[in-house]
Amino acid sequence: MNNLKNLRGTVDLLPDQLIKWQNVEKIVLEQLARASIKEIRTPILEMTELFIRGIGEGTDVVSKEMYTFLDRGERSCTLRPEGTASVARALIQNGMSSNPLQKLWYMGPMFRYERPQAGRQRQFHQLGVEFIGYESVRSDIEIIALAWDILGKLGIKELNLEINTLGDLDDRLNYQKSFLKWLEKNINYLDLDSQNRINKNPLRILDSKNIQTKKILENAPKLVDFLSEKSHERYSDLKKQLDVLKIPYVENFNLVRGLDYYTHTAFEITSGALGSQATVCGGGRYDDLIKQMGGPNTPAIGFAIGLERLILLAGKDLEVPRTTDIYIINQGLIAELLAMDLSRKLRNYDLLVELDISGASFSKQFKKANKLKSKSIIIIGDDEAAKNEFVIRRFDQSGNGDNEEVISFENDIKLKRWLNNNLLAK
Ligand code: HAM
Repeated sequence: MNNLKNLRGTVDLLPDQLIKWQNVEKIVLEQLARASIKEIRTPILEMTELFIRGIGEGTDVVSKEMYTFLDRGERSCTLRPEGTASVARALIQNGMSSNPLQKLWYMGPMFRYERPQAGRQRQFHQLGVEFIGYESVRSDIEIIALAWDILGKLGIKELNLEINTLGDLDDRLNYQKSFLKWLEKNINYLDLDSQNRINKNPLRILDSKNIQTKKILENAPKLVDFLSEKSHERYSDLKKQLDVLKIPYVENFNLVRGLDYYTHTAFEITSGALGSQATVCGGGRYDDLIKQMGGPNTPAIGFAIGLERLILLAGKDLEVPRTTDIYIINQGLIAELLAMDLSRKLRNYDLLVELDISGASFSKQFKKANKLKSKSIIIIGDDEAAKNEFVIRRFDQSGNGDNEEVISFENDIKLKRWLNNNLLAK
């Protein structure tokens, strides 16, 4: 086992770290349930072709970042780099006609072969939400508000929402013609990465982080000037409705996103607290994707939140585990059996019950209960076991306690009364 390590860019999440993950996930899942959004689970492994067709061959994700391999049947498989294409495939494959309007969420690992750094991993996790079959601006607004409110519920502040519109396919083709002409004239002023993108994915040049390229791009033609009247109206409606909901936004005409399927609305939510990988949530509309993949003409919009980045932003209060309600100290053959039985009964009251199965001395078990700051303890030794009863008391950190009672194992009424007075009603 010497020198066996996890792969670069992947991480182990250990029990203490997972307390925060679980607390965050709980709040997120409650928000999704309140918005009546249903879960969908798709395989982590898909045919490579799905992502080539769904995300686009010229994108960074598909051209450089996919974990792709041949399986034993010589089929090209890929570990999913994102969830939208898989959801689209699953819906088409499972027949969409009976349910053309769907609000869906998914959560799980995604894989991209990127250079690992703070906030960027090769295996990371996303929460994704997809509204399928919805065309009106109201769905754009509900999606953006949902993402905004999930982050708000977690107490995350100093967030910036950036929005843009990419128009429809015709708008983009018109724009691309004139942008390409401009790029050809200015090619020598662009950084190398952007020069390489001219033939593969010219729109992504707009997203360049290179300072000189950014400066030159200020003079490039703007996509908003090529929008049809309908696309313009749609975008103005979006902004108006965001104003009504008092969700603050900044327009960023260079926000094109890294995946080819977007149409009309594109948005990102960033936080200054995240450093260079500042985007916690990215999303947009993809009205052509499902049709392009062989399904019916189905407008759709969605977003994905990077969970690692979300966890970094969420408050320290979410790192605190739920406290133990009852710690059961026990010793002796019969006592151990009775303790096991009692722990199962108590857990039915939704109490966090820790049964000590260490076989250690009473004093060590007391110390453990103390360390855990358990709210109460139960003691079962040979004497108690012989009388078929146990001692229960509230516990304070000095090792003392109050409200002590001796309760028979059969006396559920007395037990329930004690729990109600001391734990459940609090
Ligand atoms: P994306 O912008 O590629 O969009 O990813 C969404 C979020 O996933 C990012 O904002 C970031 O928080 C997180 N993320 C991406 N790559 C990494 C990484 N290597 N390490 C850590 N976190 C990362 C999508 O994936 C689209 N499917 C979103 C969407 C859904 N659009 C419409 N529907």
